[in-house]
Amino acid sequence: MCGIVGYVGDKKAQDFLISGLKRLEYRGYDSAGIVTVSEKGKATLIRAKGKIAELEKKLAKNKRDDNVGIGHTRWATHGEPSEKNAHPHQAGSIYLVHNGIIENYKELKAELKEHDFKSETDTEVLAALINSFYKDGKHPLVNAVVQALKLVKGTYGIAVVSVLEPSELVVARSGSPLVIGVGNNETLVASDASALVGHTKRAIYLNDGEVALLTKNSIEIKTLNAEPVSAKVEEIETNLAAIQKGGYDHFLLKEIMEQPDSLRETLRGRVNAENGTVRLGGPGLSEAELRKIKHLIIVGCGTAYHAGLLAGYYIEKFTPEITIETVIASEYRYRDAYIPKDSVALIVSQSGETADTLACLREIKKQGIPTIGIVNAIGSTIAREVDGGTYVHVGPEISVASTKAFTSQVIAMVMFGLTIAQAKGVKSSILTPYIKEIAGLPEEIRKVLDGSVETVKKIAKDYAKYDHAIYLGRDVAYPAAMEGALKLKEVSYTDANAYAFGELKHGPLALVDDRFFEVALVPDGVLLEKSVSNVQEVLARGGHMIVVTNSDEFDLPVESVVKITTSMKLFAPLLMNLVMQLLAYYITVDKGYNVDQPRNLAKSVTVE
Ligand code: F6R
Repeated sequence: MCGIVGYVGDKKAQDFLISGLKRLEYRGYDSAGIVTVSEKGKATLIRAKGKIAELEKKLAKNKRDDNVGIGHTRWATHGEPSEKNAHPHQAGSIYLVHNGIIENYKELKAELKEHDFKSETDTEVLAALINSFYKDGKHPLVNAVVQALKLVKGTYGIAVVSVLEPSELVVARSGSPLVIGVGNNETLVASDASALVGHTKRAIYLNDGEVALLTKNSIEIKTLNAEPVSAKVEEIETNLAAIQKGGYDHFLLKEIMEQPDSLRETLRGRVNAENGTVRLGGPGLSEAELRKIKHLIIVGCGTAYHAGLLAGYYIEKFTPEITIETVIASEYRYRDAYIPKDSVALIVSQSGETADTLACLREIKKQGIPTIGIVNAIGSTIAREVDGGTYVHVGPEISVASTKAFTSQVIAMVMFGLTIAQAKGVKSSILTPYIKEIAGLPEEIRKVLDGSVETVKKIAKDYAKYDHAIYLGRDVAYPAAMEGALKLKEVSYTDANAYAFGELKHGPLALVDDRFFEVALVPDGVLLEKSVSNVQEVLARGGHMIVVTNSDEFDLPVESVVKITTSMKLFAPLLMNLVMQLLAYYITVDKGYNVDQPRNLAKSVTVE
């Protein structure tokens, strides 16, 4: 979703703004803009619809040495993607970039009669509001920003510059992240720490309700009620290699292929296969508290929701007397759901910023239920607001489609389930097989990826022609199938849906014809025969099937089989998901679409 960058220092602001916006491209956007201000107070505003490359074309004719500026990539909410709706927005002497939504913009706009509105955005309303308090520099910019924000309802991360105070930046946040980079003779701002990598390792994560006045050598933070805040400087852990393609054509393929290593990071120091134990420090629950847990609520959106569903299937297999409900955050936040006592909520989010998931977290906390984050982005809002948590540590996920985060989210939650089971005294003969498989999973992932990548690449060519797909699975393979369908639809724009195998006869079987292909997950194990009969049902109706299986017994004459060879019994469906990730990737490459930035989607969904 929208990205913000800002710079005040000794260097050319335009250079950082453009490179920073490029780093944020992965979040999804449809227009971009920057403004810089010279020492003498002259502003250079450049905006363009479309990609940053368009902005750069305009920049070539407007190069400036200015040392202060702000920039933005916009993902349209109010008003179509266009140059006039792109940020920064100007009102009088100030320029503003904004992430989030000003909900009461209509009421505010009605009062701002002096401003001649040029865009359809809620952001321009905020710019005009700040300017109405600024009164052409009669009041300090930071005070005008505070006064304006006190009237605003909604969410924002903002950065403001004024031509009258050309050596400072003002930033503020409520519900939309902002990170301040602390440099030498320079202060940088970004909505995502990845834009700061390579410039500084030191960062201050602004909290909701805080506003900061930044110069090249000073950072003054206070609350909207003028209480000073003593900022904590944290280290940015990301390195440059983690945000580059590293020789791959696309981030998506890189992130799929790096899962052996990213999962190793998730497991590091947490799993001991030798003595059959799992230790998670982050949740911060005592043995007694773990023993008391009777109900788990798992909350997430999209892929994070699927990870929760899949983990739930596993956890209930080995944890006694516990019920698990995995919920879609955007639904759960408006449900009147009763949360029983002795519940714990797992809040699952790669970005740690998803608005619906965050809203659920806040609601659940209000009810006094302990919340545990399963988060990737370090220092993100969800990570900071949960009572305890387990970072998945997969490093930056740049491609919009989530892959490596999914695998690690599932395993992090299963590990949490195992810590509950251990505390509840479940026999080690039940738990050890899970722990052993988890410890061996990174290596199995490597084998499956290496062993299937060429096969899937070939198969993809045969199926890229279809507009519809059905994904099928049973038990743990069902949520895996749901994730497979989501991956295919979001990157290749193929209409794909998942069904539990047992549901076929209750409706979806009617769809099987030459417009569709089917992807069936057939793991070895007690339900193998049932899945095989379901495959037969589809086959008998002329289905165009790809079967992904680890069973040596599967011998039906389906169109395509991807056989995975693995010693894993329990986590085979998670390995099958790798095949589905590759299938979505290669079909998209064959169709020629933008793999890493699918249309209409954003990486971090910070608005409802
Ligand atoms: C799909 C995808 C999305 C996200 C969802 C939640 O590939 O990436 O469905 O999983 O938007 O995002 P996070 O995990 O950041 O809360």
